Amino acid sequence: MITSYAPEAGIARLLDGAAACLGHAVPPEWADAFRAVPRHRFLPGRVWLSDQAAGYVPCDRDRDPERWWAAAYGDASVVTLVAEEGDGYRRPLSSASAPGAVVRMLELAAPVPGFRVLEIGAGTGFHAGLLAHRLGEDAVTSVDLDAGLVERARRNLAGVGLRPRVECADGAGGWPEGAPYDVVVATCSVRAVPHAWVAQTRPGGRIVTPWDSAWGAYGTLALTVRTGGVAEGRFRSFGAYMPLRDPAASGGGLVRDTSGMAGADDGVTALSPWAVAGEDLDAQFALGLLAPGVWHAWDAEPGEAGVAVRLVLADEAGESWACIDYDGERHDSFRTRQSGPRRLADEVMAAHNWWTAQGRPDVSRFGATVTPDGHTLWLDHPDHPCPPVS
Ligand SMILES: C[S@@+](CC[C@H](N)C(=O)[O-])C[C@H]1O[C@@H](n2cnc3c(N)ncnc32)[C@H](O)[C@@H]1O
Repeated sequence: MITSYAPEAGIARLLDGAAACLGHAVPPEWADAFRAVPRHRFLPGRVWLSDQAAGYVPCDRDRDPERWWAAAYGDASVVTLVAEEGDGYRRPLSSASAPGAVVRMLELAAPVPGFRVLEIGAGTGFHAGLLAHRLGEDAVTSVDLDAGLVERARRNLAGVGLRPRVECADGAGGWPEGAPYDVVVATCSVRAVPHAWVAQTRPGGRIVTPWDSAWGAYGTLALTVRTGGVAEGRFRSFGAYMPLRDPAASGGGLVRDTSGMAGADDGVTALSPWAVAGEDLDAQFALGLLAPGVWHAWDAEPGEAGVAVRLVLADEAGESWACIDYDGERHDSFRTRQSGPRRLADEVMAAHNWWTAQGRPDVSRFGATVTPDGHTLWLDHPDHPCPPVS
């Protein structure tokens, strides 16, 4: 039990947790940084901890010090800001990332003293603090969309004697004043790498960013920048970060309720909904790449005769929806219903068939090439682009 800061015990626990996540010890240079930049100094008195039944629930240091301190020195991300949505759902907006995940990002980005780094998503300032400790505070710039978070991050950093540059800006534009960087590392996930990050990184430099899709946030993309505004690299099989928010977007963009949408076409498929939305993260990742903009949710109580469990599909434009239904008995035949301009069940089936025909590739066989015109996603080699399935 940790109910106040016992430096050795807290850090040992954090490093053990990170090592378990990494599968190897935290490299000494980053272990030193974790010792010098105590994580609890970056957490507010109220944090939000995930509870399976209740979503994100508040945890106050004064009222529940045991849980608060356990979270501060555990290996999970700790949510520090939530948006209360109309339906009672609390959407996490910022967190201190999990130490193991932070080290994996740092290992991929591999910054060494002398490098200049831009971080996208300052959050609490913790990650920027680790970087500033290792590289020097002048070498680190971090931006966040939220002015309140930026203020807090600056205060947190100053509290441990560090003053890297922390600015309030939309990270999609990078921070051109500090360019060129040797490394751009994002701690929020993207569906497309903003070209500003490529333009602001020197040739040979690296961009590391968690990946997101409407299907789900998973995977981390590690790019090397080449000349001519091109960056190329592969995905890695970790990462699930909150998304880079678009300040111009009007809302969450998710279709939560498809009940009452009429005019559906019925069909039948042999594709089990668990094959595309179950525990196989490689399958889910591929689906997110191949069927862009397709969102899914399980409905365990569809309230319809003959339907035990339903996988609901919707496009983010809110124009198309579909479902794949399990009747509680047959495992080789599932009813589909789909409606709208996009045939979402067909897209999901086509994406899964392609992925299966390629030998069920894991995340690390996929890659991306980013140019000023956008990005191409590929399998194994840039000459083998992923096909459109819609
Ligand atoms: C997982 S948190 C970052 C954790 C942080 N690096 C730390 O160590 O505490 C993701 C952060 O990305 C920020 N973010 C989201 N969209 C952004 C955008 N468009 N520009 C800049 N920051 C953004 C959020 O406000 C949030 O603070």
